[in-house]
Amino acid sequence: MTATQEQVMAALRTVIEPELNRDIVSLNMVRDLKVEGSTAYFTIVLTTPACPLKSVFIERCNAAVIGKVAGVERLEIAWDAQVPTDRRIQGSLNVPMRSIIAVSSGKGGVGKSTVATNLAVALAEAGARVGLIDADILNPNIPQMMGLGSGRPKVVNDKMKPIEAFGVQVMSTGFLTSPDKPMIMRGPMLHSAIRQFFTDVAWDRLDYMIVDLPPGTGDAPLSLAQSFPLAGAIIVTQPQQVAVADALRAAAMFDQLNVPVLGVVENMAGDFFGMGGGEQLAKERGVPFLGRVPLSANVREGGDYGRPVVIYDAGSAAGQAFADIARAVAARVSVVMMQNMDVIPINIIG
Ligand SMILES: Nc1ncnc2c1ncn2[C@@H]1O[C@H](COP(=O)(O)OP(=O)(O)O)[C@@H](O)[C@H]1O
Ligand SMILES: [Mg+2]
Repeated sequence: MTATQEQVMAALRTVIEPELNRDIVSLNMVRDLKVEGSTAYFTIVLTTPACPLKSVFIERCNAAVIGKVAGVERLEIAWDAQVPTDRRIQGSLNVPMRSIIAVSSGKGGVGKSTVATNLAVALAEAGARVGLIDADILNPNIPQMMGLGSGRPKVVNDKMKPIEAFGVQVMSTGFLTSPDKPMIMRGPMLHSAIRQFFTDVAWDRLDYMIVDLPPGTGDAPLSLAQSFPLAGAIIVTQPQQVAVADALRAAAMFDQLNVPVLGVVENMAGDFFGMGGGEQLAKERGVPFLGRVPLSANVREGGDYGRPVVIYDAGSAAGQAFADIARAVAARVSVVMMQNMDVIPINIIG
């Protein structure tokens, strides 16, 4: 006898989403369930295409159904993803993005732009729709790192079109100035420049907007956090103690701004700078450690030549570290957004 859809659905109610700690049926993650012969077919709608947990779902679903629901011997699982929407964004401004993630650091030169670039590219590679704003207005490095050094945005209907590379939509003051004519701006101008990067650019439906902030605890993070609801901030640090001390200040600033710290990335780990400072910082602040990127020549060359290591040397230790960090960030964003009372993910309204 063939099992019924209801029997399989009931069994799947015992499968717990490991990070959200609720069952996948009440989270409305199970769709299009049907049973044919001894096979149950269904789609799991994840909260991010960069989900690190697919194998866990496969295991748990099999354990819940096979041998428990008479007549079902095999599961055929398809995958889809819908990133939770931060409703506050739609409420405050009409910009087509589901979540905004700031990348920050205590001081310059720790690899913040490198992390922002590889994170954005890795999320796009995983199938997400990704934007990247270079909010380091005075020292824009993103164009070079994304291989867009000579990019000039087109203007359509009074809005600038972002320039696309590696599937990521990019905007930077680097597109609007030349190296011999640097931007000179004061606080209020910086503030409006960052706002305009959201409102005056023709972004095309983004799951994740990654914002590469200037280093430190100056005006830019303040402007950003006051103008836009952030899903959270990532703190990038080098392993050594002086860098960690600066990074601590950046983390404390986001606490004050009520922006969740998504976690800490330790960059340039290795013999020269040592190792462990980022992990220690994460522990001290009680936030996740998102991963460690080794100090390695391929990362620097990738930045210099606009060839992000997460694509061009994906199999290397650094390439894999960035891909793992991207998955960890995506998972954290899902958790943080679903914990936030203001944020009702559209896919969870059952
Ligand atoms: N893991 C790494 N290994 C080697 N070089 C790196 C690494 N991360 C960043 N770099 C290099 O260090 C320099 C500073 O990085 P950058 O991302 O511009 O820092 P920030 O944005 O924090 O100022 C760049 O030349 C970059 O290519
Ligand atoms: Mg930078």
